[in-house]
Amino acid sequence: MLVTGGAGFLGSHLVDRLMQLEEKVTVLDNLSSGRMTNIRRWVNNPNFTFIEADLKKPEDINKTLQESTRVFHFAANPEVRVGETSPKVHLEENLMATFNLLEAMRRSRRAETIVFASTSTVYGDASTIPTPEDYGPLIPISTYGATKLACEALIASYTHTFNLNALIIRLANIVGPRSNHGVIPDFIKKLKTNPKKLEILGDGKQNKSYLYVDDCIDAILHTTNRFIEDDDNVDVYNIGSTNQTTVRRIAEIVAQEMKLQNVEFTFTGGFRDGRGWKGDVRIMQLSVEKLTQTGWKPKLDSEQAIRIATRSLLRQ
Ligand SMILES: NC(=O)c1ccc[n+]([C@@H]2O[C@H](COP(=O)([O-])OP(=O)(O)OC[C@H]3O[C@@H](n4cnc5c(N)ncnc54)[C@H](O)[C@@H]3O)[C@@H](O)[C@H]2O)c1
Repeated sequence: MLVTGGAGFLGSHLVDRLMQLEEKVTVLDNLSSGRMTNIRRWVNNPNFTFIEADLKKPEDINKTLQESTRVFHFAANPEVRVGETSPKVHLEENLMATFNLLEAMRRSRRAETIVFASTSTVYGDASTIPTPEDYGPLIPISTYGATKLACEALIASYTHTFNLNALIIRLANIVGPRSNHGVIPDFIKKLKTNPKKLEILGDGKQNKSYLYVDDCIDAILHTTNRFIEDDDNVDVYNIGSTNQTTVRRIAEIVAQEMKLQNVEFTFTGGFRDGRGWKGDVRIMQLSVEKLTQTGWKPKLDSEQAIRIATRSLLRQ
């Protein structure tokens, strides 16, 4: 199995689980945001191979694909805010990188299945909450969401044209140890600098769904096994928790876990109707009905996920 982006936050947790299951795993990562420390425990294991390579360079990936039948494609630039200043980064790191990977899969004799880490942001400001997989039209509001949606479309076309299979998983906000971006690491960093005052981007009323990383990896493996068993050509699953929490509540939980009292919250007011930045989806709750109907459900709700993730990040 190949895990692109396997040295990153989600990728490395997936690698841990696959290695525990005694799979043969290759990680391809350019270490742009990923870290060797995330996968160091496996480097001397005979079932594990690490390849430092960049998906933007096709010559780097062709050889890797000769060995792998299943590809978990997690490499990307996941920072929505990058789109405000450098949209081309998302085009290259998400869409072109995926195109290069698909081309290598098409040429390889062994590659059969791609599991693609997509995102709730493909739905944009959805008018149906919770948002099911068949919601439309899909109108992303960030270049991140747009390029991920474009990846989904490209992958679907490759399954039809070149006899590959694809499982597309649309992830809510995933939190847990090793995450180096997003709301919790941001609040922890700010509160370590100034424990008396916390600046919150937007109006703090953004209301979204958060899933703990262990639940996320469970759901990814559960849907992948099911997809392989069903022998489908292409399928899409939302993966998330069943409720939401506000950014203000997250600030309260992080302050509590850091044992800080009377922290003054200030709000930037943000962009337009209180969102944190351009491209920030204010209200997000994925429908996970399709997933739960297969017998899977998350162990933690959004607030529990935030609390446990904060604790583990503080211990790191
Ligand atoms: N974390 C979340 O909440 C979340 C939510 C929805 C979707 N996703 C998706 O899940 C995937 C993993 O996200 P993450 O939070 O673990 O991010 P991350 O930044 O921790 O991981 C991305 C990994 O990809 C690697 N990478 C980036 N560009 C590369 C390239 N051109 N070639 C090779 N490697 C490259 C990075 O070095 C890093 O190890 C991404 O595709 C992201 O869009 C994440």
